[in-house]
Amino acid sequence: MNVTWKSPSNIALIKYWGKYGRQLPRNASLSITLDEAHTITSVTTEKKRTKKASCSLLFEGKPNPVFEAKVQDFLRSIQKDFPFLGSQHLLIETSNSFPHSAGIASSASAMSALALCLCSLDILHGGKLPEDFFRKASNYARLGSGSAARSVYPEFSVWGKTNLVPLSSNQYALASPVHYHANFNDIQDTILLVSRSEKSVSSRAGHALMDKHPMARIRYRNAVVRLEKLLSVLTTGDWSAFASIVEAEALELHALMMTSDPSYILMTPNTLDIIQRIRDFRERTQLPVCFTLDAGPNVHVLYPYYEKRKVRNFIQKELLPLCQDNQALYDHMGRGPIQIFE
Ligand code: DP6
Repeated sequence: MNVTWKSPSNIALIKYWGKYGRQLPRNASLSITLDEAHTITSVTTEKKRTKKASCSLLFEGKPNPVFEAKVQDFLRSIQKDFPFLGSQHLLIETSNSFPHSAGIASSASAMSALALCLCSLDILHGGKLPEDFFRKASNYARLGSGSAARSVYPEFSVWGKTNLVPLSSNQYALASPVHYHANFNDIQDTILLVSRSEKSVSSRAGHALMDKHPMARIRYRNAVVRLEKLLSVLTTGDWSAFASIVEAEALELHALMMTSDPSYILMTPNTLDIIQRIRDFRERTQLPVCFTLDAGPNVHVLYPYYEKRKVRNFIQKELLPLCQDNQALYDHMGRGPIQIFE
C-alpha cells in the first residue's frame, strides 16, 4: 500500500506558546494556512514480523537517521491507535518545497503530512472510517507538533478550546472559525529570510520556559482577548485593526522569550530594522501591510492581494537588502492539504 499527501505550513496570527499534558495548548491559537511552503510525504507499507512500529526514512532523497529516529518514536507513541503499525514497516519519503535552512517551521507541514498519510493508510489496512477524517488527522498532527494541528485545513484555522468557537478543542483544530470579509481573501505572506542559521533555542524548549514564566497568566489572558478581537475584525475587513492585533501578538511572543529564565533573543538587528521600515511605510502610504514573527528572526510581511504590486515594490526596494542573500519566499493563503494519486 502506498499513500502520498502534500501538506502546507501555516503562520499563526494568535500564537500557541505554552503547553501542558500531552501536547495540549495553554491558549487557543489562530493561523493562516500557507500554500507555497509545503511538505510532500509518501508512505509505503511492507509486511513485517516484528510487533513494534518501525520505519525507514528518506528526507530530500537521502537517509536522515536523526529525523528517522524522531518519527519512529512518534509512531511508537501512537501505535495503539493505528493497529497496522504492528504488522507493517513504513518506508517514508519526505521533502519540503523550501530549503531546509530557510528558518521556516517545517514541523507543521511535515507532521501534518505524516498524520494524513497515517490516517489514509489506516483505512486502507481495514481501519474504521473516521467520523471526520481531517479532525482525526489534526489530532495526530498535534501529537507530532502542536502547530501542525492547524495545517490540515484551508485558509484560517483555530486550535484550542475557546468559548468563541463552537466545537473547538485542545485536541484538534477546526477550519473556518468565521465567515471572513473579502478584504482578507488570499492574504499575501512574504517571508523575509533575515537569517538562515539554526535557532539557538528550540520551540520545544521555549514552550517549557512558559511553565514558570512570571507573565504566563497575563499572556494567556491577552491571547483570549486578542482572539476575540481578531475573529471580529476578520468579519469586518478592517486591515488597520488586523495589523495592530497581529503585530502585538508577534512582539509579545518575542517579549516572552526575552523575559524567560533563562532569557533569550531570536530577533536580530535586521529583524527590528525591517519592523520599523514596515511601520514607517504604513504610516507614510496608509497601505494595509503588517508583520508577524515565528519563533525565529525571519519576518512574515502580510498584506492583501489587491495591494500586492505596491507592497512588493516596497519589499524589493527596502526590505530585501536586509535579508540574507536578498532572499524572501512569496507565499499566500492556501487551500489546505491534498492527497496525490500517482
Ligand atoms: C511560535 O508547534 O513548533 O510557531 O508543539 O513543541 O512542536 P511543538 O511546538 P511548535 O510551536 C510553534 C510556536 C509558534 C507559534 C504557533 O505556530 O502558534
